[in-house]
Amino acid sequence: MENNKDKNYIGVDVKGNRIWTGAKHAVDNKLNNVAFIRTRIDFIEHCFGENEVDEIWITFPDPQPQKTRARKRLTHPMFLERYKKFLKKDGIVHLKTDNTGLYEYTLETIKENKLPLIWHTNDLYKNCPADRKELTSIKTYYEKLFTGKGEDIKYILFKLT
Ligand SMILES: C[S@@+](CC[C@H](N)C(=O)[O-])C[C@H]1O[C@@H](n2cnc3c(N)ncnc32)[C@H](O)[C@@H]1O
Repeated sequence: MENNKDKNYIGVDVKGNRIWTGAKHAVDNKLNNVAFIRTRIDFIEHCFGENEVDEIWITFPDPQPQKTRARKRLTHPMFLERYKKFLKKDGIVHLKTDNTGLYEYTLETIKENKLPLIWHTNDLYKNCPADRKELTSIKTYYEKLFTGKGEDIKYILFKLT
């Protein structure tokens, strides 16, 4: 955000305290390219117009390991269909997770739905390409927690078209 002033960023979470922390950082640092939407992700398609978004970052979503809760996973096909409504035609989706189950589930979903998989790794901090250093230098709150505990971070980059 600070480094890419020509891009706009919109953070989404259902929890008000998470939004407050991000909003305070943005105000304190006079960041004019940042906004927040407090909503359940289930309503996200109503927040943007067609072709409005270049990239979606899904960072450390709840892994929902129980089979009965698969439809709550943020990379479930039902959510991907929603994202498709506002992501640009050539737009990209990034997933970062510490959870092996969600990582494997997402790769399987991409394969089953014949979506273009651009790159993935089960250890981002070991395998991060030299020209994509921002993938590890910019860390979310949970990313700091997990990397602090020495956990491997999984990463997937894919398209929806
Ligand atoms: C493990 S935290 C990760 C927070 C942040 N993305 C990060 O990387 O530090 C998972 C977040 O997902 C949010 N969340 C879970 N289900 C959601 C939903 N259906 N809609 C919106 N946010 C949701 C929770 O409120 C929580 O803040």
